[in-house]
Amino acid sequence: MTDPALDAEVLRERAVASLLTARERTALLTGCVDEPDLTAQHSPLMSPLVWDLAHIGNQEEQWLLRAVAGQEAIRPEIDSLYDAFEHPRTERPKLPLLSPDEARRYTADVRGRALDVLENASFHGTRLTEAGFVFGMIAQHEQQHDETMLITHQLRRGPRALTAPDPEPVPPFTGPSEVLVPGGPFTMGTSTEPWALDNERPAHRREVPPFFIDTTPVTNAAYLAFVEDGGYDDPRWWTAEGWAHVRRASLTAPLFWRREGRQWLRRRFGATEVVPPDEPVLHVCWYEADAYARWAGRRLPTEAEWEKAARYDPAGDRSRRYPWGDAEPGPEHANLGQRHLRPAPAGSYPAGASPLGVRQLIGDVWEWTASDFLPYPGFRAFPYREYSEVFFGSGYKVLRGGSFAVDPVACRGTFRNWDYPIRRQIFSGFRTARSADA
Ligand code: AVJ
Ligand code: FE
Repeated sequence: MTDPALDAEVLRERAVASLLTARERTALLTGCVDEPDLTAQHSPLMSPLVWDLAHIGNQEEQWLLRAVAGQEAIRPEIDSLYDAFEHPRTERPKLPLLSPDEARRYTADVRGRALDVLENASFHGTRLTEAGFVFGMIAQHEQQHDETMLITHQLRRGPRALTAPDPEPVPPFTGPSEVLVPGGPFTMGTSTEPWALDNERPAHRREVPPFFIDTTPVTNAAYLAFVEDGGYDDPRWWTAEGWAHVRRASLTAPLFWRREGRQWLRRRFGATEVVPPDEPVLHVCWYEADAYARWAGRRLPTEAEWEKAARYDPAGDRSRRYPWGDAEPGPEHANLGQRHLRPAPAGSYPAGASPLGVRQLIGDVWEWTASDFLPYPGFRAFPYREYSEVFFGSGYKVLRGGSFAVDPVACRGTFRNWDYPIRRQIFSGFRTARSADA
């Protein structure tokens, strides 16, 4: 596209569409339960849903109305209530939060004004609005909270409030179990993706020795073999910290799993079902993923290995945006966007494979990597230190690829997520790797 006016209209439409898609999802997640459910805390790990709702509006107000358009605060007294750093999640239910009706009115009021701002925004001149960045950032922020709210739904007790069709069944995957990624440099991160967040920047060359990586995420059947082999009772497979944690927390299987006789059952959004063998394992913490890999004679991939598997194109010297190429994710490529409320069976989405044949890198389950969350060389916090910078080097592990709960707008080959190694209420799984030069 060379006509700058046309270009701006394309960006504006994309920004509007991304904001509307996020809001539809937010409305669904907050509209399918009653008022007491919205204000209750379903787990000490999570905020009440009504906090997420007003926080979404408050972030949008701060960035699109105040930072971009210079408007006055609508309700200056509420900023501190919805500041994630001022109030940890455990405290949030006791705060004088907006009621569900007030929160809905407030976020809708902000949105109406934000669309007016967007209507007249220029996408050149300031870094904040360049290529519509800040609008994309706010759409991604809302979608990230939509994933957070879906986690709250999974933790919530009581009958199912959400439904979605299951992914298409596929025959059991019979291809090679691992793929060789040749050694050599590749370009990690991005300096050109317009809506990439600060921690994905800048693009830089990384030397990555040859390695093998699993073709698909580790399945429930494979993970169950580790469980049944006494994996949780054998300190050989665990790091010292992992072993201390697994004992202290009495872990015996993934979160939401329960053994009944000879069967393993799991609870999923209010229903109980038999653990499906071919589905990627979900709700494991980093320590469990790391222990499984050691038991299997393998290891977790580093973050650079994961990204090389996802973006390296042996036929070109440029990294791809996604494993399948540069095209935006479609339903044929990946299980994203809460279209389904579960991962798809291993071996699904052949059209989403990388050039080397690695499957399901994007969507289905967040994949734990071996790496700590650290800045890339040349990192600069933008537009606020509290998105990424304050978390670097604080014991967080990186997760890659996005889950079934992530919208395409908040998922790329370069996208980085992070959490503590004990966390497993998130939609987390993993795949394993091994070095090839040994
Ligand atoms: C990137 C998922 C770790 O939820 O804590 C939401 C995203 N940042 N609001 C989080 C985020 C600010 C963040 N993660
Ligand atoms: Fe937030």
